[in-house]
Amino acid sequence: MAVKCIGILTSGGDAPGMNAAIRAVTRSAIYNGMKVKGIYRGYKGLLLDEIEEFKTQNVSNIIQRGGTILKTARCAEFKTPEGRKEAYERLKEHGIEALVAIGGDGTLTGARIFAQEYDYPIVGLPGTIDNDLYGTDVTIGYDTALNTIMECVDKIRDTATSHDRLFFIEVMGRDAGFLALNGAIASGAEAAIIPEISLEKDQLAEMIETGFRKSKNSSIVLVAESEVTGGAMGVAERVKKEYPQFDVRVSILGHLQRGGSPTAQDRILATRMGIAAIDALLEDQRNVMIGIQNDQLVYVPFSKAIKNDKPINRDLLDTLRISSI
Ligand code: F6P
Repeated sequence: MAVKCIGILTSGGDAPGMNAAIRAVTRSAIYNGMKVKGIYRGYKGLLLDEIEEFKTQNVSNIIQRGGTILKTARCAEFKTPEGRKEAYERLKEHGIEALVAIGGDGTLTGARIFAQEYDYPIVGLPGTIDNDLYGTDVTIGYDTALNTIMECVDKIRDTATSHDRLFFIEVMGRDAGFLALNGAIASGAEAAIIPEISLEKDQLAEMIETGFRKSKNSSIVLVAESEVTGGAMGVAERVKKEYPQFDVRVSILGHLQRGGSPTAQDRILATRMGIAAIDALLEDQRNVMIGIQNDQLVYVPFSKAIKNDKPINRDLLDTLRISSI
């Protein structure tokens, strides 16, 4: 059955490029003769009936803006069967026959459960700075966040060098090391402490024992936020106790990593993926996330995207080690 009206929402942590995706989904849907309903504040707004019809003008002048014009939220109620029933009622009331959900792991997990429970067509777009969704080489927002991290680390390096200090800089990633590892390579940092490797060995001890910082007057180490790594604070505390010879400082980049105007790469990715989401619905695809692999758009079943841990490319560990001697 051809879908005549779609709903679009963003949920979970925002990511630069979400607006570009909203724009592309809206315009492609209208181009293909569908109606579009913008749902505010993710699943929360769906439950609260914060829904408005979107025309092409609603998405004018937004491709360059960070954040999400649809707003976003994390919604505990949608995790309950009662909450999802409520959501289904709202969708029916508004004549919304399919959903495009933009977000990360939590968003797609919610989408998957709902789609199964109500046999409802949903297409997901991977919108998260963390880059931690399986089945896609990159996620919307990752490139912008990586560039933001690089700019911040460049600035911190100035002061680190002036003071001969060792800096631990914490970056986001919710238990994934993509931002930390590639951020370290891009900013010329000495090392990255990431959960994928922390589980296997003591990265800090290895770093220091292999003559780290022998010939350098400043050092920067990127630490991925995670209980496994201990975060930048945890690592710095350890250094203060075990290696008191270092003058250590910590910087936690925090939510500034999520803001800012999206890079060209994120805008193009979001636009391609947004159009692919409507193509997927036209092809009667459901319960798939749009991914990109070797520059080709692909459909990844929700079950795969969510369940599997996306592995880091271990060659990058050598790249960082060799390039930072
Ligand atoms: O998933 C995106 C992300 O920015 C993570 O990197 C981070 O752990 C988390 O969201 C922070 O969430 P919140 O904005 O709810 O504090």
